[in-house]
Amino acid sequence: MAHFPETFVWGAASAAYQIEGGARDGGRGPSIWDTFSHTPGNVARGETGDVACDSYHRWQEDVGLLRSMHLSAYRFSISWPRVLPDGDGDWNPDGLAYYDRLVDALRAAGIEPYITLYHWDLPQALEDRGGWQSADTARAFGRYAAGLAAHFRGRVTHWFTINEIACIVGMGYGRGNHAPGLRLPLEGQFRCWQNVMLAHCLAEQALHEADPANIVGLASTGRICHPVTEDPADLQAARRLTFACPDEDWTFTHQMLLDPLCLGHWPQDAGPRLRACFARTDPALTRALAFGKPDVIGLNIYNSVPARMEADGPAFVRRPTGWPRTAIGWPIEPSSLRWGPRFIGERYGLPLYITENGLSCNDKIYLDGQVHDADRIDFTTRYLRELARGIAEGADVRGYFHWSLIDNFEWYSGYSERFGLVYMDYAAGQRLPKDSARWYARVAADNGRCL
Ligand code: NOJ
Repeated sequence: MAHFPETFVWGAASAAYQIEGGARDGGRGPSIWDTFSHTPGNVARGETGDVACDSYHRWQEDVGLLRSMHLSAYRFSISWPRVLPDGDGDWNPDGLAYYDRLVDALRAAGIEPYITLYHWDLPQALEDRGGWQSADTARAFGRYAAGLAAHFRGRVTHWFTINEIACIVGMGYGRGNHAPGLRLPLEGQFRCWQNVMLAHCLAEQALHEADPANIVGLASTGRICHPVTEDPADLQAARRLTFACPDEDWTFTHQMLLDPLCLGHWPQDAGPRLRACFARTDPALTRALAFGKPDVIGLNIYNSVPARMEADGPAFVRRPTGWPRTAIGWPIEPSSLRWGPRFIGERYGLPLYITENGLSCNDKIYLDGQVHDADRIDFTTRYLRELARGIAEGADVRGYFHWSLIDNFEWYSGYSERFGLVYMDYAAGQRLPKDSARWYARVAADNGRCL
């Protein structure tokens, strides 16, 4: 029997571009993901988020599904170009009205909204003026956050500013496999990194100023290592490699974001090219860091890398041949939910949420008309048991959001990856709860005791 704190929050997560569709409805402006997905070669089979799960029109069904699963929280994102079609300036009343309806329906159903302000769909108008390469985008984000904080004052108190800066910068402006598809050198990526951090700080400041009751976090992702044994030396190795920050692989680290925000300095063990960048830190960011320490840290954790101490120091350990993997090819590593929160919690001393965890499966509708996703139930049981262990060992984790509520647009993979608790029949636009949705409802209802 797993034990979770009595106040533990059970939720599910989604993101605007991945589920909403309605790309040209209600005065929404274009985002960089519209441009990117409509450019041939960027997304599998040329798929786009134009329709997705059509949550722009079917949001009531989403709320009903959350309710049927007894979930007490829903993490969703606001589409910046839906509420500010040009990214800045005039608000779009129809866009705001959409989120009003969603927020009010969630609250009426006893489901707490946890809003992500930026889940990658930058207004194209801002990208045309430099996107995250420009500090003006960060300042526009601060105004966007201030406007939403005023609008939802008294109705929403849980906010995540930025989702996965690692993907925004590392993939969007480094590898080029996410929008806007740029391949900048390290120095250019670092400029974007600073601007996204600045955006977070300005947004956090605005949210706190608007309402001191606001609880502000961000959703971070990056390499987590787990020790292959309980030996203290292996633990030390896993911790050291989790927080290493080499020049070749710095974007997918938690500390590039969280060290400056929570500890007030850049990672101290960074590579030489990064250290040269640190020396030229934008003074505007340095000033803004005073407001940037989050109240809570959101962690998006899907797996981890095995590590141990060897004679010449900490080393990654190769997984045995045939190691289990999810449909998207990610290794199954349940202990990531034990060690990730422990290491991050120890380093930063802040409350944590698992803002994402889940898997893609080759789900299908069986002959009996149901989706039997035993893999998802098995995976999530293993991960949640390890999370409970991490909590018992001292990690202050306040909630868990399964990724995802519903199958959706998985970025450059299009619709082939199914991460949902609910199956999406894209052709018919219909939602069908999988076995895991009924199972997760039981987990939420008895606070994980059945695990
Ligand atoms: C991270 C992202 O936040 C989300 O958008 C994505 O779909 C999932 N992980 C799965 O890749």
